[in-house]
This record gives sequence, structure tokens and C-alpha cells, in this order.
Amino acid sequence: MGCYRVVQVVAIVSFMLLLPKTHAWGEDGHAIVCKIAQGRLNSAAAAAVKKLLPKSANNDLASKCSWADSLKVVFPWSSALHYADTPDNACNYKQTRDCVDLKTGIKGRCVVSAITNYTNQLLEYGSEPKSKYNLTQSLLFISHFMGDIHQPLHCGFASDKGGNDISVHWYKRKQNLHHIWDASIIETEVERFYDDIDDFVDAIQQNITKTWADEVEEWENCSNDDISCPAIYASESAADACKWAYKDASEGSVLEDEYFFSRFPIVNLRLAQGGVRLAATLNRIFETQSAMSMQFI
Ligand SMILES: *[C@@H]1O[C@H](CO)[C@@H](O)[C@H](O)[C@H]1NC(C)=O
Ligand SMILES: *[C@@H]1O[C@H](CO)[C@@H](O)[C@H](O)[C@H]1NC(C)=O
Ligand SMILES: *[C@@H]1O[C@H](CO)[C@@H](O)[C@H](O)[C@H]1NC(C)=O
Ligand SMILES: *[C@@H]1O[C@H](CO)[C@@H](O)[C@H](O)[C@H]1NC(C)=O
Ligand SMILES: [Zn+2]
Repeated sequence: MGCYRVVQVVAIVSFMLLLPKTHAWGEDGHAIVCKIAQGRLNSAAAAAVKKLLPKSANNDLASKCSWADSLKVVFPWSSALHYADTPDNACNYKQTRDCVDLKTGIKGRCVVSAITNYTNQLLEYGSEPKSKYNLTQSLLFISHFMGDIHQPLHCGFASDKGGNDISVHWYKRKQNLHHIWDASIIETEVERFYDDIDDFVDAIQQNITKTWADEVEEWENCSNDDISCPAIYASESAADACKWAYKDASEGSVLEDEYFFSRFPIVNLRLAQGGVRLAATLNRIFETQSAMSMQFI
């Protein structure tokens, strides 16, 4: 990096720190997914995560879960990795059709391929010679993208940028539809039903062990011994985008209690699935990795 480039990056980053925080699954949504996940890690994965997290995280994955959102400007190549949008009303995900950077048109760049990419990088943890990738970054990327892929409007329609171009009202406030699914539904839930975010996370965790107990193994499973299976999660999100997010939410709609009460259970389910699947994926990655290094003992 040349000196000018360094100055430029420093300038951009300092400027970003001055801007009001934009919440993208908002910071809260991502932190919830990572908090649920970290509580479900096996000992190999917990140790690897602890080792890979920067010191400043204090072994709290949730605190770094929105790191990837802060990079979109500094690393423009990464911005396509947060979504996989489809044609209008497709309601499913197809790799060859939908995994594309909408700004550059480059194929194979989307949240699905990113999860596979960072899974493969993390499989090199502890290997000799050392991975050429910064595995701290790989961990922070996969932890963030596993959240994004479960937010239905990260697999919405390309024509309206996953709802970013649909302007509606959330109760009295003007808002875009994407943001409502990233943040507003969660904020309204916490405001109305819980003391704070931690209290909300507790409630989701309780449902994982009770209400959803019979489904959790299915959420965790991938077929064919695959270590991660993001295409399935993207298809679920694309289906939810049609069935729940876009439905009755056209340009200019006023979304209030009717929308809120029918949609928040979907948000809660997706947060739970995101957390459970992030943990299951990390558990498989680091189990596999420690099994491989055992062979050489
Ligand atoms: C894979 O990860 C590397 C390192 O972060 C990055 O340069 C590349 O763009 C990624 N590709 C995809 C599809 O995620
Ligand atoms: C890896 O990335 C992290 C997070 O960006 C950074 O703090 C760290 O210095 C990097 N490590 C190396 C060896 O470059
Ligand atoms: C937990 O499950 C109950 C019963 O299905 C439901 O009413 C409640 O909204 C759920 N809470 C969360 C946070 O998912
Ligand atoms: C999960 O996968 C395992 C191994 O393939 C299989 O034995 C089990 O029945 C699956 N469970 C569910 C709920 O799909
Ligand atoms: Zn994101």
C-alpha cells in the first residue's frame, strides 16, 4: 500500500467514525446470532475462536460480529458478499443465476460463496505450512455472513436491492423495507417485550431448547457430510422474503401492528437458526481440523 493510499484509508476510516452508526441485520441482529453461536461451541471450536479473536474482543465473538459491515467502503470487493439477490418473485435461490456482484456483474460473488470461501480458509487453521489467509478475518467474515444469509431481505429481489429501494413507514417513521428487517422489528420487540438485548437473547435461547428442540438437529444438518450448506439457507430466506417481507409492504405502505405481530416470529426463528448454524459450522470446521492433525501424532 502506497503512502497516499494509507492516508486515504485513514481519512475514510476516521470520517466513518464521525458518522452516526448505521445499523445493518443491524448490529443487534448480528450480535444476537454470534452470542447464540458462541454458547453452543464444542471445546475444539471454542478454543479456536478464543485464539483467533483479537485481544480487544475479550473472547466475545458478538462484539466483533459487525466488523465486516465496517469494511464495505474500505474493501469495496467485500460489499457483494453480504447478499444474494434474485429476480423479482423468484422466491428461491439458484447459484448460477443469483450469485453475482450486482455492481460489477462478476459471477460467483455473493453471501453463499463467501460462506463456503471462509469455511475453506478456516479448515487450514493449525495446518503446516500456515494458511496464507488471515484466519481472524475469516472467522469474523463467516460469523457476520451467517447472520446476513438468514435475513430474508439479504436474499430479496435485485431490482429493489433487497428492499433498500422500497420506502414505507414503520409506524410513524419513514423507513426503507430492508432496514425494517435488519433492525426495526428487533428494536420494536426489545422495546415492547424485553428489558434489553440480553433478555431477548435469553428468550431465544430458551426457545431453542424448548419450542424448537425437535427441529434443531435438522437446522444443524448438512447433507453429504458437507461442512457448510449456505445455499439451503439462502433458499429459505428467498422464500421468506416473498412470503413475509415483501407481502403487503409495497412502496408507500404504512406498516404497523398487523405486520409487526405476524413478522417478528419469523425474525426470531431466523436469528435462532443463524446462531445454531454458525455454531454447527464452526464445530464441524474445528472438529475436522483437529481430527486431521491427530492423524500425524
Ligand atoms: C475469499 O476470501 C478472500 C480473502 O478474504 C477474498 O479476497 C475473496 O474475495 C473471497 N471470495 C469470496 C467469493 O468470498
Ligand atoms: C489479521 O486481521 C486482524 C483484523 O483485521 C488484524 O487485527 C490483524 O493484525 C491481522 N493479522 C495479521 C497477521 O496481519
Ligand atoms: C418462544 O416461543 C413461544 C411459544 O411458541 C412464542 O410465543 C415466543 O414468541 C417465542 N419467543 C421468542 C423470543 O422466540
Ligand atoms: C442429520 O444427519 C444425520 C447424518 O446424516 C442423520 O443420521 C440424521 O437423521 C439427520 N437428522 C435430521 C433431523 O435430519
Ligand atoms: Zn452484512
